[in-house]
Amino acid sequence: MGDELRYDGRVAIVTGAGNGLGRAHALLLGARGASVVVNDLGGDVHGGGKSSAAADQVVAEIKAAGGNAVANYDSVEDGGSIVQTALDHFGGVDIVINNAGILRDSSFAKMSADDWDLIYRVHVLGAFRVTHAAWPHMRNKGYGRIVMTTSAAGIYGNFGQTNYSMAKMGLIGMANTLAIEGASKNIRVNTIAPLAGSRISETVMPPQMLEALKPEYVAPLAAYLSHESCEESGSLFEVGAGFHAKLRWERTVGHHFQGKSFGPEDVAEKWAEIGDFNDATYPKSIGESLMSILQGVASPFGQGKN
Ligand code: NAI
Repeated sequence: MGDELRYDGRVAIVTGAGNGLGRAHALLLGARGASVVVNDLGGDVHGGGKSSAAADQVVAEIKAAGGNAVANYDSVEDGGSIVQTALDHFGGVDIVINNAGILRDSSFAKMSADDWDLIYRVHVLGAFRVTHAAWPHMRNKGYGRIVMTTSAAGIYGNFGQTNYSMAKMGLIGMANTLAIEGASKNIRVNTIAPLAGSRISETVMPPQMLEALKPEYVAPLAAYLSHESCEESGSLFEVGAGFHAKLRWERTVGHHFQGKSFGPEDVAEKWAEIGDFNDATYPKSIGESLMSILQGVASPFGQGKN
């Protein structure tokens, strides 16, 4: 076992920290010396209601263990107020764990525009507002650690969760670009796709499985990604029950018609080749992606036209 990772002097905002995964992240960071803003609206799983009890309870737990924490009851849609709480009480913000979330599951055929919008607002707009308010402080300080929380439903799709899948995939895109924009300012941004027993998952998992999937088994990865010693950025991890793994894009060698005229029947003829993952590559950047597309193509970039 390595030396204990500490967060003394660091200020962490954990959104949706009144329950489940956020609570586990907040308790761990608080126990390791971070000053924690425990944000939670205190609503139900579907985004209804409001209460200060959930955040207050976690603040009390952190303090009882000798840590430092303050509650914030705003929705993540009011990200500026959450960051202001960190500034007012602790004088800065070093870590943001965007974790708050709700579900509004329904098949796409039955999904209402409200179900779509609310999921977007809590997950995507909420993470944007909190991160956007924290961003200038991190840039000024030349330091920041940000964790986004996606879901397997976003990565792979899941019946009844078009809204949630859209939002969760959106967070991965946000993290990918923030990792690039934050690189020169020592701001590292990563995404976790957790699996854990909680209010959100208890509706879809049997009790014995929930028992094996404690939120405490996800918190160490979120905490590591939030530590100053961790230089990882722009990465995506699946985590749960003690399992930790990294994901990446894989692309087939494919087929390039390279300027020859071609129609749908030519695409059909090359279908097996286009989908053949033998000798697949793993593009890590937009540059690497474009290289294959532009091979053999006169570069538009050299002609001042693009
Ligand atoms: P949870 O329901 O136990 O906790 C979510 C917390 O977010 C609640 O305390 C809730 O009050 C709070 N919250 C909801 N809307 C908010 C808002 N607008 N502003 C501030 N706080 C708000 O759920 P859980 O499982 O801990 O989920 C945490 C995150 O992990 C969510 O983003 C969820 O989508 C994600 N996730 C969870 C999985 C799991 O297996 N539990 C699987 C994949 C993703």
